[in-house]
Amino acid sequence: MAAGYTGGTGESLILPRGSTQTPVKVQKKKKDSTVSTFSMFSGSGWIFFLLLLVFGAAEAQHKPPISVHSQCLGSVLRVDVGPLGGHQLEVSAVINGSAVPLTPALASQCGFSLKRNQLGRAQIYASLQNCFAANENDKTFTTTLNLRLYGNRMGDDQLYQVAETCRYTSWASREIICSSNYMEVSVERAAPDDYVLPEHPTTGANPASGDPRRDAEKPLIDPGFRITTLVFYTPEERIMPVAEAQRNGYGIANTATRLFLRSPKVSQETYTESVSGVPMSVLKTSTVFEKKWMATQIDAAVACPDVDGSVSLTEDTISWFLPGHIDPLLSSGQFYLLEVHMGVDGQRLDPTEMAARGYSLSVNDMHIVVEIPVGAAGGHFKSHVQDGQYLRSYSIEPMLEVLWVEDSTHEDTRYRVLLPITTPPMSQSVQVLDNTVPEERIFKVLLGPLGSDVVLMNVSFSSEVLSVSECNLRGFNVMEHVSPNSSSKVFTLEVPFTDPVVLQTGQTGTTVFSLHVTFGLLVLPEFAPFSLSAYLEETLVDIVPPSVSGGCDEENFYILVKHGSPGFEFQTLVGTRILTPQLAQQYGFMDNGTHFSFEVPITAPEVQFEAVQSSTIRSRIDVVLRNQETSRRIQDFSLACDFVTTLTECFPNGTMTAWAVKLESVPSLNLAQLTLRDPTCGPAYSDDRYAYFVFTANSCGTTRKFLPNMMLYENEISLPDELEMRRTSRREEPEYELKVSCYYDINKTHAVAFRARPRRSQPHAEDAKGALQVEMRLALDKSYREFYGGQGYPVSKYLQQPLFFEVELMKSRDPKISVELENCWATLDEDRTSRPRWDLIINGCVNPVDPYQLILHPVWPGGRVQYPPHFKRFEVQMFAFSEDQENLSRQVFVHCDVVICDPQNPQGGVCSGPCPNQENKRKSLRRAADGGSDSNHVSSGPIILH
Ligand SMILES: *[C@@H]1O[C@H](CO)[C@@H](O)[C@H](O)[C@H]1NC(C)=O
Ligand SMILES: *[C@@H]1O[C@H](CO)[C@@H](O)[C@H](O)[C@H]1NC(C)=O
Ligand SMILES: *[C@@H]1O[C@H](CO)[C@@H](O)[C@H](O)[C@H]1NC(C)=O
Ligand SMILES: *[C@@H]1O[C@H](CO)[C@@H](O)[C@H](O)[C@H]1NC(C)=O
Ligand SMILES: *[C@@H]1O[C@H](CO)[C@@H](O)[C@H](O)[C@H]1NC(C)=O
Repeated sequence: MAAGYTGGTGESLILPRGSTQTPVKVQKKKKDSTVSTFSMFSGSGWIFFLLLLVFGAAEAQHKPPISVHSQCLGSVLRVDVGPLGGHQLEVSAVINGSAVPLTPALASQCGFSLKRNQLGRAQIYASLQNCFAANENDKTFTTTLNLRLYGNRMGDDQLYQVAETCRYTSWASREIICSSNYMEVSVERAAPDDYVLPEHPTTGANPASGDPRRDAEKPLIDPGFRITTLVFYTPEERIMPVAEAQRNGYGIANTATRLFLRSPKVSQETYTESVSGVPMSVLKTSTVFEKKWMATQIDAAVACPDVDGSVSLTEDTISWFLPGHIDPLLSSGQFYLLEVHMGVDGQRLDPTEMAARGYSLSVNDMHIVVEIPVGAAGGHFKSHVQDGQYLRSYSIEPMLEVLWVEDSTHEDTRYRVLLPITTPPMSQSVQVLDNTVPEERIFKVLLGPLGSDVVLMNVSFSSEVLSVSECNLRGFNVMEHVSPNSSSKVFTLEVPFTDPVVLQTGQTGTTVFSLHVTFGLLVLPEFAPFSLSAYLEETLVDIVPPSVSGGCDEENFYILVKHGSPGFEFQTLVGTRILTPQLAQQYGFMDNGTHFSFEVPITAPEVQFEAVQSSTIRSRIDVVLRNQETSRRIQDFSLACDFVTTLTECFPNGTMTAWAVKLESVPSLNLAQLTLRDPTCGPAYSDDRYAYFVFTANSCGTTRKFLPNMMLYENEISLPDELEMRRTSRREEPEYELKVSCYYDINKTHAVAFRARPRRSQPHAEDAKGALQVEMRLALDKSYREFYGGQGYPVSKYLQQPLFFEVELMKSRDPKISVELENCWATLDEDRTSRPRWDLIINGCVNPVDPYQLILHPVWPGGRVQYPPHFKRFEVQMFAFSEDQENLSRQVFVHCDVVICDPQNPQGGVCSGPCPNQENKRKSLRRAADGGSDSNHVSSGPIILH
């Protein structure tokens, strides 16, 4: 009984199984539509009668109130019902108090049609003179309809009654309605020209009136005449009694002034004729009236365009061609077009509204042409799924209302055609747009446009399938965007790169994020599933944090920082200071784009001293790279290097200097408070990192020790006891004590070092070098006041003239040491080891075999002499070596071995005193002959014999 729409079957919904995946080309932010071609398509199949199956699981959830609205639109009445939700709709016509359900056949016979639009609303069209209308004088028409809504899940049937009275008086001579399912013609019940009323004289043309309309008026057929027979021209003549015609689905009505004839769009007696290239369904009749022995007839014809052949479609425009001259109706060429109106859904539109919707209406020699853009307001889209493809059709029901006037008869014809047009399902370019902004690290997908009758059910990823609500719980933010002006919607989805459904593959320095996504969609109300897939991919350069490395040479730390990924902002700390531009400049900052470097001297305040070891200081620099905003540390870098440095110096004059440095392990130490053993000897200079001490061998509590062949001066740098106790009792810090040592190597006449040995930490210094210097000079005379200078040599003397020699330990300020002569001798040659040689002093004793014995002179303080033990003076007579008496050599050199002694701790040898006993003389002599040459040596310049 129901001419239902495709697919659904009421309550028991059977969903087609399985969906086909349709890969969709992913395009980046670029819209471009797919061109599809399609052919002419009939609008039939859109109309369904009596029962309207309305689906909409979603629509049934929230139930907006159903509204029923009726309005008169010229010669038709329209009733709007909706939204229907899950209901089916049954329409009955009410006559004499009883309701007659409208079957499709009854609807086309009686002048009703029914359709549903995209919002689930129904439209019922009724011809004013439908079979059930209450007609008053062919001027007012009352139609009463019962509407029953039933069959939704709640089982709550709803009944509505709508009664509408329409007034229509501007009847044209001929009125034609072409509806989707019927054709209707009404003509004045005027007698044909040869008809003569028996009771009245003919009232034919009346030239005196001067009114062409009145001229055209013809007498009405007497109401006593009854319709008995219909003659159809198919085009062959076919005669049919009226009752049979009614049984065959024709509607025939005979009112006070008019004859109404209605036929289904396609019937046995209709035929198709091409009019100006447009195929039209044509019904041509003569209706025979009889009264007793009299008979007369009225001819009536109707021609309605078929959708096929009158509509041409392009991708984006619907063009409807209606012949400008419809021959079966207007056989004479003498007519003119008085009015043309366009409308939609039975309602006329004014030119402004038409323009706003993009419709156009034009008339040419052959046709009245209506053009409607696909998708224009007034129509609606419907989604389809075919072979897994998403398609969309567009439906609209335009109307043309034309008024022709025939020239000769002045008869007018009002022609109203409602033409439901539906495009064939067109492949719709649904795009999956990748709106991802890689920096946001979220895939942003836009899917659309899709029809408003499409719902998103689920989203499949390579690993799992999630429903829309699961997606939203997961944070994928699935949204549906409906634009108010179009019946389209788009879906958006956001998937963070961090979600497990996003695949990550690494390559060198980059990471590729990829996402396979398939949208599971459903077209309502058929519940037709389809899917759209997309693959998205983004490549991101890995974020590499900056890194720091470094090295050092004898003086500087070199720091090299590699920049991280672009945009990775960070701050550099050197020690505890931020590397400001000023500090950077100070440290020779350089940046080549990928790296920057700077150098920090070991003496810089940012450098920490860890320990003092031998002649090195172990120093450390700390560099921290950190996030500028959060202060989070990116990298901590420490570099420790040993720097060779001179902390202690020992000068030959007995002056000693020492640097004390602040060690990291004793942060609370105040270097200015350090002293030598003598607490009154503080630093000559100090700051918060260094203290510098200057002292002499005989001051500040310096002790001296004679070691074999060495002399050791020692002191210590520390805090005075009470300060140290106070400091270490308060803090867990080691005591600070730095030993300062100077070794003077006596043998070699060179000064030696220090050793610093703090009690706990390890610093100790290598030997510092000093030099003990001994000089021998020749005085002018016994007073030892004046001496021969460098220019005075060679000194000329006569044989046996006395020579006054002095040996001095130079520069030393230590009063407690003495200089002793171990051996003195004379040579002919400058080389002290040359032969022959003549001994003057042997092992501290005057050479006993020397005929002119050497005389030692005592030294007294005064004048140049501060410390007498630092001097030795002796006198020898000038002599000559004689190999033979005649040939005396004329030049001698005098040499001495000198020993520096500690008189308090003589350790034997010459230090025990001058020439200890005669017994040793022989041995000493022998030893001297061995050439004991380990002591300091002094030599005179050449002395020449006159
Ligand atoms: C309705 O009632 C009127 C008079 O009561 C009658 O003439 C007419 O035939 C009835 N119509 C139908 C369709 O029953
Ligand atoms: C996802 O939704 C589609 C409907 O579009 C359906 O055919 C499919 O079976 C659903 N998949 C799952 C796993 O639920
Ligand atoms: C910058 O200097 C670093 C270290 O010297 C070097 O490795 C790098 O190649 C340099 N970069 C450029 C662009 O010169
Ligand atoms: C000792 O020698 C050093 C280095 O030559 C010098 O700086 C210092 O002044 C001298 N000291 C004395 C007391 O002469
Ligand atoms: C110093 O001389 C002594 C003997 O006189 C010798 O044993 C010692 O090795 C010498 N020292 C140096 C450093 O030459």
